[in-house]
Amino acid sequence: MKRKTVAVLFGGQSEEYEISLQSAHSIIESLDSEKYLVIPLGITRDGRWLKYDGDIDRIRDDSWSESDFCAPAVISPDRYTHGILVSDGDRTTTLPLDAAFPVLHGKNGEDGSVQGLLSIAGIPCVGCGILSSALCMDKDAAHKLVRAAGVKTPDAVVLDAPASDSELADRTSSLRYPLFVKPVNAGSSFGITKIENPSELAEAARLAFRYDRKAIIEEAIDGFEVGCAVLGNETLTVGEVDEIELSHGFFDYADKYTNRTSKIHMPARIDADTASRIKRAAAVIYRALDCRGFARVDMFLTSGNEIVFNEVNTIPGFTYQSRYPNMLKGIGMTFAQIADRLIELATEES
Ligand SMILES: Nc1ncnc2c1ncn2[C@@H]1O[C@H](COP(=O)(O)OP(=O)(O)O)[C@@H](O)[C@H]1O
Ligand SMILES: [Mg+2]
Repeated sequence: MKRKTVAVLFGGQSEEYEISLQSAHSIIESLDSEKYLVIPLGITRDGRWLKYDGDIDRIRDDSWSESDFCAPAVISPDRYTHGILVSDGDRTTTLPLDAAFPVLHGKNGEDGSVQGLLSIAGIPCVGCGILSSALCMDKDAAHKLVRAAGVKTPDAVVLDAPASDSELADRTSSLRYPLFVKPVNAGSSFGITKIENPSELAEAARLAFRYDRKAIIEEAIDGFEVGCAVLGNETLTVGEVDEIELSHGFFDYADKYTNRTSKIHMPARIDADTASRIKRAAAVIYRALDCRGFARVDMFLTSGNEIVFNEVNTIPGFTYQSRYPNMLKGIGMTFAQIADRLIELATEES
């Protein structure tokens, strides 16, 4: 069988550059070299695209872009090229691709932008498409669609523009404290504040508007956070449910990537019936948001055992320690099998 050439895109101009490097390292390392010719394609923090041919450990320690193994390279939107244009001194060479795996988080990576470029180029892309990626980045749009599909979401109001103190008080008068104030489009807990009383509202809203032009203010859900890994296009594979045990206010950036003060339980400490309800809800949400390939669906389980939707991560953290692969390991898939299956799912459609 002919090897497939697959570009793994990593880095990117997002706050989540670092975690992307760690995920890409694990994915590149685990892909079967007899089956795939992997082309690491890095995007630096300042937005330069470089094809990287060096040791993959230098991706993990973020010294890859300073090495001699980089050449300027871009994915061409030209369908005839169907791949990467690499600058080699004063020559440009083409490198056709069978698929691309964007291991990018946040803006321009997880929001439909890169998916759009790959779609114009006609290159099969691992994971969710343009619409689904964009919807899942927008906490307001995602909540509306998930609600329409019959899954509960936190009571919330959305601000389309910064508001005066009195407007803020007015708009939030029906919500019960504590509240979460968040940018509508962001990730990794950036710009999010949990507030206990109205005196903190204006400052929290200001912070959220630093990250996006819209803010969402939600009632805090009293319960704990559960996640579910979903994989597939038409037929879905649903992983085990996991649970985040928090030792303070919420799951912030430091917790997510260091597990400093929070603990992940996989499987979650819940009964079998609750676990199957969560898995069913995850599948409903995945369909409602038009997901394909893979996604991690994050929900809350209230003290009354009710499931409330939080968000979908269309390119979740993907290191050997990450929640997404661990939940699928819970049903017997290895990390390498998951990565392999994702490329198959992307290419079977083309
Ligand atoms: N309505 C809510 N109720 C309780 N906790 C919340 C709520 N919204 C957010 N959180 C907490 O804040 C964290 C980050 O919020 P989330 O909406 O997942 O944003 P991000 O996209 O940055 O991950 C969540 O993991 C959770 O700990
Ligand atoms: Mg989250």
